[in-house]
Amino acid sequence: MKALILSGGKGSRLYPLTYTNAKQLIPVANKPVLFRVIEAIHDAGIDDMGIVIGSGENGRKVRAAVGDGGRWGVKITYIVQDEPKGLAHAVLIARDYLSDDRFVMFLGDNVIEGGISDLIREFETSDYNSQIVLTRVAEPKHYGVAELNPDGSIKQLVEKPRQPKSDLALVGIYMFDEHVHEAVRSIKPSWRGELEITDAIQWLVDAGYHVHPYIHRGWWIDTGKPIDMLAANSKVLEELTPRIDGFVDKDSEVDERVTVEPGAQIINSVVRGPTIIGENTRIINSYVGPFTSIYHDCLIEDAEIEHCIMLEHSQISDVDARITDSLIGRNVVISRSELKPRALKLTIGDNSRVGLI
Ligand code: G1P
Repeated sequence: MKALILSGGKGSRLYPLTYTNAKQLIPVANKPVLFRVIEAIHDAGIDDMGIVIGSGENGRKVRAAVGDGGRWGVKITYIVQDEPKGLAHAVLIARDYLSDDRFVMFLGDNVIEGGISDLIREFETSDYNSQIVLTRVAEPKHYGVAELNPDGSIKQLVEKPRQPKSDLALVGIYMFDEHVHEAVRSIKPSWRGELEITDAIQWLVDAGYHVHPYIHRGWWIDTGKPIDMLAANSKVLEELTPRIDGFVDKDSEVDERVTVEPGAQIINSVVRGPTIIGENTRIINSYVGPFTSIYHDCLIEDAEIEHCIMLEHSQISDVDARITDSLIGRNVVISRSELKPRALKLTIGDNSRVGLI
């Protein structure tokens, strides 16, 4: 089998972080979501992967970060999508790469509990033409939604319905055989101007092909918005096996669910897990609370932070208020200003969000 990973899109709901980075490269628990996707596919025994990227800067960033896949022992082929014209369009342009092989398509910003090994095994050993993954969600209207027949087979799939017929959403992981190519050639763009994979799967169902619905019972997160990134971060941190590879001084209190990466230093601080402190990051006279990921080469001094993702080379120092529920980009400095007037002084990017007390 092959894998097709979709890693395009502007990531506008994660502005300003995604002005300078692809959303799939934002780390959860100090590892880019896209790397977690590659590892999940590799763990399922698939080492031939195509990655669909945009033609702009974000596409180049993905290429630079992932390279030829040698680091994971996998082979990566890049497929450039000029415009974000939909998930089925991505399959259309990947026709030559995919050939007539069976494949799994995985959205590069999805994080799923337990990986995909069981799913792949079930599909590989079956005669299904396609297998889709469904899970119960609170707000189905934001997703592709499946209505099932009493016998469990698929009755109908609708992309982002106003009045959903069920709470079963399509997870961004799909398995196909070669018949999907005729499906993606046959459908028309939706109201949002995209070739929807949901419509292509409906086409397969209507044409009498066997599309098997697999109900996923663990957690699954589509990391489109800051709140989703934080949720995925929390879930993955909970699954991490903690390791202390850095330095913790005798005045610090670090609980057992904390990972301290090599070169990191915890000085006179309290760190409560699940939390990860990245390489060469220093935590000095500070508190780092649960569900926090601090990436490499950061500094937190005389400050308190909890339930946050902080990217590399950033620093927080001498801040009284505890910082929570936040996404902090790269090379950010948050510190007290001694200069008059005593006021908030902000240099922040377009589309930033600041929550004041
Ligand atoms: C896409 C699919 C949708 C699916 C979702 C999962 O939505 O079109 O059917 O439920 O991914 O993440 P999009 O992210 O394009 O809005």
